[in-house]
Amino acid sequence: MGRIHNFSAGPAVLPLPVLEQARDDMVDYKGSGLSVMEMSHRSKEYLEIITNAEALLRELMGIPANYKVLFLQGGATLQFAMVPMNLVDDPENQTADYVITGAWSKKALEEARKVLKNTHVAASSAAEKFTRIPRQDEWQLSGPRPAFVHITTNNTIYGTEYSYTPDTGDIPLVADASSNILSRPVDVNRFGLIYAGAQKNLGPSGVTVVIVREDLVGLRPNANLPVMLDYKPHVENGSMLNTPPTYAIYILGLVLQWVKAQGGVNAIETRNLRKAEKLYGAIDGSNGFYACPVKVDSRSRMNAPFILANDALTETFLAEAKKAGLSQLKGHRSVGGMRASMYNALPEESVDALVEFMAGFAQRNG
Ligand SMILES: Cc1ncc(COP(=O)(O)O)c(C=O)c1O
Repeated sequence: MGRIHNFSAGPAVLPLPVLEQARDDMVDYKGSGLSVMEMSHRSKEYLEIITNAEALLRELMGIPANYKVLFLQGGATLQFAMVPMNLVDDPENQTADYVITGAWSKKALEEARKVLKNTHVAASSAAEKFTRIPRQDEWQLSGPRPAFVHITTNNTIYGTEYSYTPDTGDIPLVADASSNILSRPVDVNRFGLIYAGAQKNLGPSGVTVVIVREDLVGLRPNANLPVMLDYKPHVENGSMLNTPPTYAIYILGLVLQWVKAQGGVNAIETRNLRKAEKLYGAIDGSNGFYACPVKVDSRSRMNAPFILANDALTETFLAEAKKAGLSQLKGHRSVGGMRASMYNALPEESVDALVEFMAGFAQRNG
């Protein structure tokens, strides 16, 4: 069997040239006689890999010099706790504000509540089953100076995405960008901290990228945070406080080289827009055979949930799609129906194949 169309929500499809390069490098990286997996993280070869990965991420995202880039472990989930542990200098008195747009922002808030006395929900779309992103004029902040405002820029499960970057003035804006990082240009200056698990748009699981403005590092010198949970020692040691996830960072570097070769983030965005327009067009143009529950202005370019008017056909749809080489289309268990994830590395042909299959399925069953 050849490669299939992989609509997985994550870990997700990787660019084929990246996998091929990794295969070629597997047992002998550039004549070193070693696999990247077998190298000391302090070796000259490996330092070049991690340095280049950071430089390329800075270049592609336009990360300003006053931001630090970290490659950490523990997934985005560990950042749910590390952010409030590090960014609130007075956890007894200060508040952190959260905008709740789905399951992942709820989890971020739950973790914050374990380490802070005061948290506040500035806005939530829970009452609308998370089918849209609240506008900023709907937010009610806890006061003039919360320690930060946390948003989830793309909601992997519910298929919603911010179409705007909130303006929080002097209040640090913190973003979980796990499922849309590098899919569209963003002005990093508008954020205090951005974090993302790599396993959707950046590479394999096991490495988490944290981009943090330098004045937000080391806010709690007397807190005696466990060393792995404190951004400062990670910054001081260039993500080498302990052994980093060396192989995952190597693959991430290859993915970034691929993004650059595609023409960078602008070119990637153009293709992502085309892919999303094709799929949502197929859903909206199906005369109600398919439907997307998400409000049009909040639709995600990365994860498109859709349902069949006749839910009894869902299992047949998924089984026939699988036979046609269209894999991992089952919706998240909390939402049901289908979900097509269309991350950067998903080829446009995969969307074309899905759209064609959907039209045929509607014709056979409509
Ligand atoms: C938006 C978002 N945040 C956080 C997570 C959790 O990430 P991790 O598994 O890296 O902890 C996910 C995982 O799918 C996600 O989609």
